[in-house]
Amino acid sequence: MHERDLMHEKDQPGQLIDFTAGRTAYRVRRGEARSHQLVKATGILKNPDLKVVDATAGLGRDAFMIASLGVEITLIERSAKVHELLSAALKAASNSSDELAAIVERMHLLLGDAATLLPELKPDIVTVDPMHPERTTSALVKQEMRTLREIVGPDEDSAELIDTALSSAQKRVVLKWPLRASAPINLRKPTFTLSGKTVRYDVFEVANGTRTI
Ligand SMILES: C[S@@+](CC[C@H](N)C(=O)[O-])C[C@H]1O[C@@H](n2cnc3c(N)ncnc32)[C@H](O)[C@@H]1O
Repeated sequence: MHERDLMHEKDQPGQLIDFTAGRTAYRVRRGEARSHQLVKATGILKNPDLKVVDATAGLGRDAFMIASLGVEITLIERSAKVHELLSAALKAASNSSDELAAIVERMHLLLGDAATLLPELKPDIVTVDPMHPERTTSALVKQEMRTLREIVGPDEDSAELIDTALSSAQKRVVLKWPLRASAPINLRKPTFTLSGKTVRYDVFEVANGTRTI
Protein backbone atom coordinates (compact mmCIF):
# COMPACT_ATOMS: atom_id res chain seq x y z
CA MET A 1 0.00 0.00 0.00
CA HIS A 2 1.20 3.47 -0.85
CA GLU A 3 1.16 6.05 1.93
CA ARG A 4 1.34 9.71 1.29
CA ASP A 5 3.44 12.06 3.38
CA LEU A 6 1.70 14.24 5.91
CA MET A 7 2.24 17.81 4.92
CA HIS A 8 -0.36 19.70 6.90
CA GLU A 9 -0.24 20.84 10.48
CA LYS A 10 -3.77 19.53 11.04
CA ASP A 11 -2.50 16.00 10.47
CA GLN A 12 -0.26 16.07 13.53
CA PRO A 13 -1.11 13.79 16.49
CA GLY A 14 -3.93 15.12 18.61
CA GLN A 15 -5.37 17.13 15.72
CA LEU A 16 -6.74 14.55 13.30
CA ILE A 17 -7.71 12.21 16.16
CA ASP A 18 -8.87 13.52 19.52
CA PHE A 19 -10.90 11.45 21.97
CA THR A 20 -11.16 14.28 24.48
CA ALA A 21 -13.27 16.52 22.21
CA GLY A 22 -15.44 16.33 19.11
CA ARG A 23 -18.42 14.32 18.00
CA THR A 24 -17.47 10.87 19.32
CA ALA A 25 -16.35 12.17 22.72
CA TYR A 26 -19.59 14.14 23.00
CA ARG A 27 -21.67 11.11 22.07
CA VAL A 28 -19.91 8.96 24.67
CA ARG A 29 -20.16 11.62 27.39
CA ARG A 30 -23.90 11.97 26.76
CA GLY A 31 -24.39 8.21 27.02
CA GLU A 32 -25.57 8.01 23.41
CA ALA A 33 -23.27 5.12 22.40
CA ARG A 34 -25.76 2.50 23.60
CA SER A 35 -28.35 3.53 21.04
CA HIS A 36 -25.91 3.90 18.12
CA GLN A 37 -26.72 1.71 15.08
CA LEU A 38 -23.19 0.24 15.01
CA VAL A 39 -23.49 -0.86 18.64
CA LYS A 40 -26.88 -2.43 17.95
CA ALA A 41 -25.51 -4.14 14.84
CA THR A 42 -22.71 -5.82 16.83
CA GLY A 43 -25.10 -7.17 19.48
CA ILE A 44 -22.50 -6.45 22.19
CA LEU A 45 -24.94 -5.01 24.68
CA LYS A 46 -26.44 -8.46 25.16
CA ASN A 47 -23.01 -10.15 25.07
CA PRO A 48 -20.35 -7.74 26.39
CA ASP A 49 -17.83 -10.56 26.92
CA LEU A 50 -17.55 -11.49 23.26
CA LYS A 51 -14.22 -11.06 21.52
CA VAL A 52 -14.59 -8.06 19.23
CA VAL A 53 -12.14 -6.96 16.55
CA ASP A 54 -12.33 -3.72 14.58
CA ALA A 55 -10.49 -4.78 11.41
CA THR A 56 -10.23 -1.22 10.06
CA ALA A 57 -9.29 0.97 13.01
CA GLY A 58 -8.79 4.26 11.11
CA LEU A 59 -9.52 7.18 13.44
CA GLY A 60 -10.62 4.74 16.16
CA ARG A 61 -14.00 6.37 16.69
CA ASP A 62 -16.13 3.27 16.25
CA ALA A 63 -13.88 1.21 18.53
CA PHE A 64 -13.85 4.01 21.13
CA MET A 65 -17.63 4.01 21.22
CA ILE A 66 -17.72 0.22 21.67
CA ALA A 67 -15.01 0.30 24.38
CA SER A 68 -16.94 3.04 26.22
CA LEU A 69 -19.64 0.43 26.85
CA GLY A 70 -17.26 -1.77 28.86
CA VAL A 71 -16.30 -4.05 25.95
CA GLU A 72 -12.71 -5.16 25.21
CA ILE A 73 -11.87 -4.50 21.58
CA THR A 74 -8.83 -5.20 19.41
CA LEU A 75 -8.18 -2.60 16.70
CA ILE A 76 -6.15 -3.39 13.59
CA GLU A 77 -4.65 -0.66 11.43
CA ARG A 78 -2.24 -1.35 8.60
CA SER A 79 -1.12 2.20 7.84
CA ALA A 80 1.94 2.91 9.99
CA LYS A 81 1.15 6.63 9.92
CA VAL A 82 -2.47 6.21 11.00
CA HIS A 83 -1.38 3.69 13.65
CA GLU A 84 1.08 6.27 15.00
CA LEU A 85 -1.56 9.04 15.10
CA LEU A 86 -4.11 6.76 16.75
CA SER A 87 -1.63 5.47 19.27
CA ALA A 88 -0.68 9.06 20.24
CA ALA A 89 -4.34 10.08 20.51
CA LEU A 90 -5.11 7.10 22.75
CA LYS A 91 -2.18 8.01 25.01
CA ALA A 92 -3.35 11.64 25.19
CA ALA A 93 -6.90 10.54 26.05
CA SER A 94 -5.60 8.19 28.70
CA ASN A 95 -3.59 10.99 30.33
CA SER A 96 -6.52 13.40 30.24
CA SER A 97 -8.89 11.71 32.72
CA ASP A 98 -9.50 8.50 34.66
CA GLU A 99 -12.74 7.98 32.76
CA LEU A 100 -11.02 8.07 29.36
CA ALA A 101 -8.09 6.02 30.68
CA ALA A 102 -10.53 3.23 31.59
CA ILE A 103 -11.95 3.24 28.04
CA VAL A 104 -8.51 3.29 26.40
CA GLU A 105 -7.42 0.37 28.58
CA ARG A 106 -10.01 -1.77 26.81
CA MET A 107 -8.70 -0.80 23.34
CA HIS A 108 -5.86 -3.00 22.08
CA LEU A 109 -4.28 -1.49 18.99
CA LEU A 110 -2.32 -3.66 16.56
CA LEU A 111 -0.29 -2.61 13.53
CA GLY A 112 -0.79 -4.98 10.62
CA ASP A 113 -3.04 -6.24 7.87
CA ALA A 114 -6.33 -7.55 9.24
CA ALA A 115 -6.57 -10.01 6.35
CA THR A 116 -3.49 -11.72 7.82
CA LEU A 117 -4.26 -11.26 11.53
CA LEU A 118 -7.98 -12.17 11.67
CA PRO A 119 -7.54 -15.94 11.09
CA GLU A 120 -5.15 -16.09 14.10
CA LEU A 121 -7.35 -13.92 16.33
CA LYS A 122 -10.56 -15.94 15.68
CA PRO A 123 -12.83 -13.16 17.01
CA ASP A 124 -16.53 -13.59 17.75
CA ILE A 125 -17.45 -10.30 16.10
CA VAL A 126 -15.61 -8.38 13.39
CA THR A 127 -16.46 -4.86 12.31
CA VAL A 128 -15.23 -3.85 8.86
CA ASP A 129 -15.30 -0.25 7.61
CA PRO A 130 -13.06 0.12 4.56
CA MET A 131 -12.53 3.53 2.97
CA HIS A 132 -15.79 4.30 1.18
CA PRO A 133 -15.90 5.03 -2.54
CA GLU A 134 -15.26 8.70 -3.22
CA ARG A 135 -18.48 10.69 -3.45
CA THR A 136 -19.09 13.23 -6.14
CA THR A 137 -20.81 15.38 -3.51
CA SER A 138 -17.58 15.62 -1.54
CA ALA A 139 -18.91 18.42 0.69
CA LEU A 140 -20.81 15.67 2.50
CA VAL A 141 -17.59 13.93 3.45
CA LYS A 142 -16.20 15.20 6.73
CA GLN A 143 -12.77 16.87 6.72
CA GLU A 144 -11.15 14.21 8.92
CA MET A 145 -12.21 11.48 6.49
CA ARG A 146 -10.76 13.48 3.59
CA THR A 147 -7.49 13.80 5.50
CA LEU A 148 -7.50 10.08 6.26
CA ARG A 149 -8.03 9.35 2.57
CA GLU A 150 -5.04 11.58 1.77
CA ILE A 151 -2.93 9.37 4.01
CA VAL A 152 -4.13 5.86 3.12
CA GLY A 153 -5.70 6.25 -0.33
CA PRO A 154 -8.55 3.94 -1.35
CA ASP A 155 -8.81 0.44 0.17
CA GLU A 156 -8.77 -1.40 -3.13
CA ASP A 157 -8.47 -4.83 -1.53
CA SER A 158 -11.51 -4.53 0.76
CA ALA A 159 -13.19 -7.53 -0.92
CA GLU A 160 -10.38 -9.79 0.32
CA LEU A 161 -10.68 -8.33 3.84
CA ILE A 162 -14.44 -8.89 3.97
CA ASP A 163 -13.98 -12.43 2.71
CA THR A 164 -11.39 -13.15 5.44
CA ALA A 165 -13.61 -11.53 8.09
CA LEU A 166 -16.48 -13.80 7.06
CA SER A 167 -14.36 -16.92 7.31
CA SER A 168 -12.65 -15.91 10.59
CA ALA A 169 -15.54 -14.56 12.66
CA GLN A 170 -17.20 -17.05 14.99
CA LYS A 171 -20.50 -15.21 15.25
CA ARG A 172 -20.99 -12.05 13.26
CA VAL A 173 -19.50 -9.63 10.75
CA VAL A 174 -20.71 -6.03 10.58
CA LEU A 175 -19.92 -4.20 7.35
CA LYS A 176 -20.25 -0.40 7.47
CA TRP A 177 -20.88 1.00 4.02
CA PRO A 178 -22.53 4.05 2.38
CA LEU A 179 -26.30 3.87 2.59
CA ARG A 180 -26.99 3.64 -1.11
CA ALA A 181 -23.80 2.12 -2.54
CA SER A 182 -23.76 -1.48 -3.70
CA ALA A 183 -21.62 -3.80 -1.56
CA PRO A 184 -17.88 -3.88 -2.36
CA ILE A 185 -18.05 -7.64 -2.86
CA ASN A 186 -20.73 -9.97 -4.16
CA LEU A 187 -22.35 -11.18 -0.93
CA ARG A 188 -25.53 -12.97 -0.04
CA LYS A 189 -28.24 -10.84 1.53
CA PRO A 190 -27.20 -9.68 5.01
CA THR A 191 -29.00 -11.30 7.95
CA PHE A 192 -30.25 -7.80 8.67
CA THR A 193 -29.31 -4.20 7.98
CA LEU A 194 -29.47 -1.14 10.22
CA SER A 195 -29.44 2.16 8.40
CA GLY A 196 -28.24 5.56 9.53
CA LYS A 197 -28.51 8.88 7.68
CA THR A 198 -25.59 8.27 5.35
CA VAL A 199 -24.27 4.79 6.17
CA ARG A 200 -25.73 1.36 6.71
CA TYR A 201 -24.58 -1.60 8.78
CA ASP A 202 -24.96 -4.92 6.97
CA VAL A 203 -24.88 -7.71 9.55
CA PHE A 204 -23.84 -11.22 8.49
CA GLU A 205 -24.47 -13.92 11.07
CA VAL A 206 -21.98 -16.76 10.89
CA ALA A 207 -22.97 -20.20 12.20
CA ASN A 208 -20.33 -21.64 14.61
CA GLY A 209 -17.47 -20.09 12.75
CA THR A 210 -18.69 -21.61 9.49
CA ARG A 211 -19.19 -19.11 6.81
CA THR A 212 -22.79 -19.06 5.62
CA ILE A 213 -22.27 -16.53 2.88
C1 LIG B 1 -12.83 4.28 6.80
S1 LIG B 1 -11.45 4.08 7.80
C2 LIG B 1 -12.13 3.38 9.27
C3 LIG B 1 -12.71 4.41 10.17
C4 LIG B 1 -13.08 3.84 11.53
N1 LIG B 1 -14.22 2.97 11.43
C5 LIG B 1 -13.33 4.92 12.56
O1 LIG B 1 -14.25 4.78 13.36
O2 LIG B 1 -12.58 5.91 12.60
C6 LIG B 1 -10.60 2.68 7.12
C7 LIG B 1 -9.26 2.39 7.80
O3 LIG B 1 -9.02 0.98 7.69
C8 LIG B 1 -7.67 0.75 7.36
N2 LIG B 1 -7.63 -0.56 6.66
C9 LIG B 1 -8.18 -0.87 5.46
N3 LIG B 1 -7.95 -2.15 5.14
C10 LIG B 1 -7.24 -2.68 6.17
C11 LIG B 1 -6.70 -3.96 6.43
N4 LIG B 1 -6.83 -4.97 5.56
N5 LIG B 1 -6.04 -4.17 7.59
C12 LIG B 1 -5.89 -3.15 8.49
N6 LIG B 1 -6.35 -1.90 8.30
C13 LIG B 1 -7.03 -1.66 7.16
C14 LIG B 1 -7.30 1.94 6.49
O4 LIG B 1 -5.90 2.14 6.48
C15 LIG B 1 -8.06 3.07 7.16
O5 LIG B 1 -7.28 3.69 8.16
